[in-house]
Amino acid sequence: MTVLLDAAEQFGREELGALQLGRLQTTLHHAYENVPFYRQSFDKAGLRPEDCRSLADLARFPFTVKTDLRDHYPFGMFAVPESDIRRIHASSGTTGRPTVVGYTGRDLDMWADVVARSIRAAGGRPGHKVHVAYGYGLFTGGLGAHYGAERLGCTVIPASGGMTARQVQLIQDFRPEIVMVTPSYMLTLLDEFERQGVDPRTTSLKAGIFGAEPWTEEMRREIEERFAIDAVDIYGLSEVIGPGVAQECVETKDGLHIWEDHFYPEVVDPVTGEVLPDGERGELVFTSLTKEAMPVVRYRTRDLTRLLPGTARPGFRRMEKVTGRSDDMVIVRGVNLFPTQIEEIVLRTPGVAPHFQLRLTREGRMDHLTVRAEARAESSGEQRAAASASIAAAVKDGVGVSAGVEIVDPGTLERSVGKLRRIEDLRTE
Ligand code: DLL
Repeated sequence: MTVLLDAAEQFGREELGALQLGRLQTTLHHAYENVPFYRQSFDKAGLRPEDCRSLADLARFPFTVKTDLRDHYPFGMFAVPESDIRRIHASSGTTGRPTVVGYTGRDLDMWADVVARSIRAAGGRPGHKVHVAYGYGLFTGGLGAHYGAERLGCTVIPASGGMTARQVQLIQDFRPEIVMVTPSYMLTLLDEFERQGVDPRTTSLKAGIFGAEPWTEEMRREIEERFAIDAVDIYGLSEVIGPGVAQECVETKDGLHIWEDHFYPEVVDPVTGEVLPDGERGELVFTSLTKEAMPVVRYRTRDLTRLLPGTARPGFRRMEKVTGRSDDMVIVRGVNLFPTQIEEIVLRTPGVAPHFQLRLTREGRMDHLTVRAEARAESSGEQRAAASASIAAAVKDGVGVSAGVEIVDPGTLERSVGKLRRIEDLRTE
């Protein structure tokens, strides 16, 4: 069966660049004219929208950060009258006010288009059934996936998160080809399949589209083997649109193609803010190219990655799998550490389940890291001891820090129902 791609998916770099520049200039004008925050921030930098004559000129414009959105809570970043807003989403954040985002009818249309494109890149086809276990509500995951699947011509099963036993039953009875869920909740589902005595390799599922949190190649292997499916990565953030900013293609599984006709990426040095050449790792920054309700100019995502040339969609650059956010990084005795580094280690250690947590404590003036990993049901005392020693050695070698390791009984660590927090920080100032 030939797959029909969107016109932009078949563009070359030059054609795409011309489209991007026109859209960028329109976005800068729209933001400057309709959002007081952008007017002030451009004025302060001595810039006008017409100073952007090439894509490279964007680097002269000021960044937007999460606190700018919080400072203009709830609707101060909107560029259209409130009566033109058709949907609001918000992310709760860990402290204080939520970050609010708004969409016009055309924004919702564009969002459905990019998610439809993403599901298709993951192997979804019209007529497939898509089980959506991302949370519905103010979080963008559930509704974002939902309308994208409908747009592609799929049948949506809007399961949302939670009620895990019922999810397993629905997957068996409704026979979806595609599941969309956080990777950590997919592991919770895995446990539940096993608890119900159902072999997860026998389901109708062909592919899973996993995102909303960092996950590793080791996790991909685990999920693919245990469920006998293809596991691909979807990326996005509410401030930019929600899920569907970038998507991994199932035929290559080599990082995520950024839908650059709508979202313009830059990677900058997280400290100096200087734009880095493609291929160098840094913080991902996005400028929306077609959004009406809430254009974002140089929004700092805090996600760390690098830009690579396109493969399965040669016109669009890829971003490497996000290994972490600058705010998920913990510093233990001067060593920078991301939870994904521990995930790689735990998932390749025999005798332990793919469930782990990082506990940070302070002993005197020293930070102490404990990796808490769950034993597999069948692991003997000896195997547990071996797993503990092997994790400690791998963390010391690979990350460069001494960590305590605690192998806990099966089923004792907190399970995910959506995004999982890996770090339990018990340090007191
Ligand atoms: O998590 C949107 C989303 C929903 C994406 C469903 C994919 C699937 P927020 O709640 O605003 O939006 O959180 C955005 O989540 O800045 C990343 O730190 C992280 N994130 C999202 N996708 C990935 C991914 C949604 N594939 C924040 N890999 C982002 C790693 C991801 N981190």
